[in-house]
Amino acid sequence: MKALITAGGRGTRLRPLTHSNNKHLLPIANKPMILYPIEHLRDAGITDIGIIVNETRSEIEGLLGDGSKYGVKITYIFQDKPLGLGHCLKISEGFLRDADRFVMYLGDNILAKGIKEFVDDFKNSSNNACMTLVDIKDRERLKSLGVAEIKDGRIVATEEKPQDPKPNHLAASGIYFFDGNVFKAFNGDGAIKPSARGELEITSGVFRYLIEHDYKVGYYNITGWWKDTGKMDDLIDANRLVLDKFDGFKNEGTISSTSEVEGDLLLGKGSVVEKSQILGPVVIGENVVIKNSRIGAYTAIGNNCVIEDSEIENSILMEGAGLTNLKNVTGSLIGFNAKINKFVSKEIKKNGGGPDVSRIIVGDDSVISLA
Ligand code: TTP
Repeated sequence: MKALITAGGRGTRLRPLTHSNNKHLLPIANKPMILYPIEHLRDAGITDIGIIVNETRSEIEGLLGDGSKYGVKITYIFQDKPLGLGHCLKISEGFLRDADRFVMYLGDNILAKGIKEFVDDFKNSSNNACMTLVDIKDRERLKSLGVAEIKDGRIVATEEKPQDPKPNHLAASGIYFFDGNVFKAFNGDGAIKPSARGELEITSGVFRYLIEHDYKVGYYNITGWWKDTGKMDDLIDANRLVLDKFDGFKNEGTISSTSEVEGDLLLGKGSVVEKSQILGPVVIGENVVIKNSRIGAYTAIGNNCVIEDSEIENSILMEGAGLTNLKNVTGSLIGFNAKINKFVSKEIKKNGGGPDVSRIIVGDDSVISLA
């Protein structure tokens, strides 16, 4: 089997971070997001992977190259406009045609468990296509997602953002399975048309076409957590969920005797922790300086960050970011090389005081100096 990963799109909901980065390269637990689907596919035995890229292709290609570093073979497929997930499939026909059966994996989706079980089943399945579905208890949330209606073990209808979700509606995650029949959806008289938002849709387009043309459309239930990291909160949640699974202690840096560490920690080479407290799970990259600070659970700190006289938890600091004199920072995303410094007089510091900051979302290269 082959696979198609999407890494194009606009990433508007993650601005300002996506003004300067392709969303799929944003780090989750210090690892670029796109590596999660690549590893899941590789672990399921799929190594021939096409990746949809846009005008930011050089960023993705710079990280992944030909894929050999990650044990896979990558073919890049250029999408000149973000015309939808159906369009991603349509332009990949040349790459996928000889595969017989394949997986499509949205590059901003992360799941707790891999997809091996689904891949093994789909290889020999009589289904022409399958969705992976999530049972979401919060029916309100379904109103913002693609859903599938289930009857007798089959998908009988699909809908995008249902106004009135039904009891047998399950949410569609971003992992789909197809055989070659899917390309019929793009050709001939009955070919699917762009939706009102100008995209060739997958749930209400491609899957609807397959169902209406009597193809067998099955599904797999996702049982562990699943995250579509399209929004800020989802990115922080995904970081927390990945770190929650992390179990261990590896110190390749230096932790001074004046510091305390509790819980799981990964501290990279050349990093120094002085007069600080760390409460894991926390991952810290290489050449990081942490002084006189408190790093709380579910924090991922990229290479070359500097944190002084600050308190942070449940947040992502991207490579080269810096914090000085900030307290109670939580649920925050600090972009690559962004620096936030609060001036605090010696007098206030001596009295243990300082500004209270709760949540910060800052794009790359920003410098914020607060007095
Ligand atoms: P979305 O999250 O639906 O769209 P987006 O990434 O453009 O973000 P936003 O809505 O915030 O503007 O995309 C899901 C996945 O599909 C993601 O991996 C990006 C990718 N994608 C493409 O590669 N090409 C496309 O034309 C579209 C719409 C998405």
